[in-house]
Amino acid sequence: MLYQAQRPFGWVSQQIYGSNLESMLLVRHQSLDDMVRAEIERGTCQIVEIASGLSGRSLRMLESYPDHGLRYIEADLPRMIKWKRDRLTPAQKQDPRLTLCDLNILRLNGAMSLPAVLEQHVDPARPVLVITEGLVNYFRLSVIQDFWARLQAKLSVYPRSTYLFEIWPRLPAYTESRMLKLGLAAIELLTRQRVPLHFADEQEIAAAMKATGFRQVQVINPDESERGRQFGALHKSLFRLVKAEN
Ligand SMILES: C[S@@+](CC[C@H](N)C(=O)[O-])C[C@H]1O[C@@H](n2cnc3c(N)ncnc32)[C@H](O)[C@@H]1O
Repeated sequence: MLYQAQRPFGWVSQQIYGSNLESMLLVRHQSLDDMVRAEIERGTCQIVEIASGLSGRSLRMLESYPDHGLRYIEADLPRMIKWKRDRLTPAQKQDPRLTLCDLNILRLNGAMSLPAVLEQHVDPARPVLVITEGLVNYFRLSVIQDFWARLQAKLSVYPRSTYLFEIWPRLPAYTESRMLKLGLAAIELLTRQRVPLHFADEQEIAAAMKATGFRQVQVINPDESERGRQFGALHKSLFRLVKAEN
């Protein structure tokens, strides 16, 4: 119902701004898929997708790379994990390459914490890739920065570790467009919480991730990537993709 309800606004936004929520979410999801594929192709076989929600990425990757020794761990809050587990086919449930587990990024230790999930499911002797999509902007900056710092510290013990995520900065477009401000207010209303925009531009994002301890940080405007260009020359994505490496 929500999807159908937002379609007329999406159509108007597409005509005026060259993009809308649906096209941005598609660029986001497909661009992250491209980046995950690149990581798998350079030999990373352990993937932890935090706050995986309804994403079908694990199933797509496991199907695309049947012979890569891939292990895919999806981690989310217990109700979401139960919801998802109940909808897997018997074959997907029995696939030893796929693990669904409970995780709350706010827990520092013990059950459902990041250290517990990594310890239980990830081999410290092999490279690891961590993904979050659609998570960062639901938290205050100080809260998500604390999570990043804990993640970076945990990842630093692996021979190679990469963290891929997307972030929605305070781009000038929000001050220029009332429609965008209204769109953000609508998302806050629907999700019943604040959706703070973090950082003003790519440089601030990169500096913050480096300050957290990640050694190499790449911030990508998806509209400048091959995948983004498929959505048209005028497409204006309001998020940035980040690849942070230890
Ligand atoms: C907007 S959805 C994004 C889902 C998916 N990554 C996608 O892009 O379609 C946000 C997800 O974050 C999860 N989430 C919210 N708070 C969380 C927390 N404290 N720890 C772990 N996951 C959380 C929710 O359960 C939900 O699945």
